[in-house]
Amino acid sequence: MRKKVTVVGSGNVGASCAVRLADKELADVVLVDIIEGVPQGKGLDILQAGPVEGYDVRLTGANDYSPTANSDIVVITAGFPRKPGMSRDDLLWANYDVVKATVEQVVKYSPTSILILVTNPLDAMCQVAYKVSGFSKNRVIGMAGILDTARFRTFIAQELDVSVENVVAFVLGGHGDTMVPLVRYTSVAGIPLADLLDQAAINRIVDRTRNGGAEIVKYLKTGSAYYAPSAAVAEMVESILKDKKKILPCAAYLEGEYGIRGLFVGVPVKLGERGIEKIYEIRLTEEEKAALLKSAAAVEELVKVMKPKLG
Ligand code: LAC
Repeated sequence: MRKKVTVVGSGNVGASCAVRLADKELADVVLVDIIEGVPQGKGLDILQAGPVEGYDVRLTGANDYSPTANSDIVVITAGFPRKPGMSRDDLLWANYDVVKATVEQVVKYSPTSILILVTNPLDAMCQVAYKVSGFSKNRVIGMAGILDTARFRTFIAQELDVSVENVVAFVLGGHGDTMVPLVRYTSVAGIPLADLLDQAAINRIVDRTRNGGAEIVKYLKTGSAYYAPSAAVAEMVESILKDKKKILPCAAYLEGEYGIRGLFVGVPVKLGERGIEKIYEIRLTEEEKAALLKSAAAVEELVKVMKPKLG
């Protein structure tokens, strides 16, 4: 059976996801948007790159969900992006409505799918998708940690003037300013980061990582990043559809892990054909644990605000 992935939202993030999924021949792709013509036009354009690039998938665009029926994975990118000066949290109510309406359609047409959330504020939108879908927690996953970790790895490689392929790192926590780049678990060709950079340089890189999304929003002015976010989505889709069982940092619903309950927070998970197949609880120092709990508290603030509507 051919695999099918629906990407909801045909803006920069959604369209870039469609390109990357097609390019890797991971599945047939349906691009959905409420804006008439855009998903169809972009879908056709991406399809027509196939003969040149050498990929062979079916790629269609639609304004309704019937062509998305029985998708294996649905990637939700729909919603409003940040403008300069805005935090991800400022998008809460505008994107709450978008994600809720989207998930209702997805449940109707693809009741056995796995959801990958991209819309911000990410961890809160995962909560909306989880509640509205009624899906089991292994089938609702947020994309954030891979992106944040990719930024961290990029800055470390730049600083040391070494290949990014040598840099192994982990960023935990919510997808916000309080995210937790785990320096102790970061190494370059097996060498601990602390042996290669002094504390001041590490602090500078950690800070730049935390503000990595905002740095790009400031340049773009009219929206947020999409090349690196779509690359992160493609890695998740690949690990699930090929049942690769990669361990990746993703937003997952925690029920006591790390002392956090009832919230989506970024942690290392195993991604396979069943979605999140395992949550890894790594040992943290008191300081790291405090930072993770602070980040979770920021997510909880938003969840509390939504509670009257979401339950
Ligand atoms: C970022 C947005 C997508 O981090 O949250 O770039």
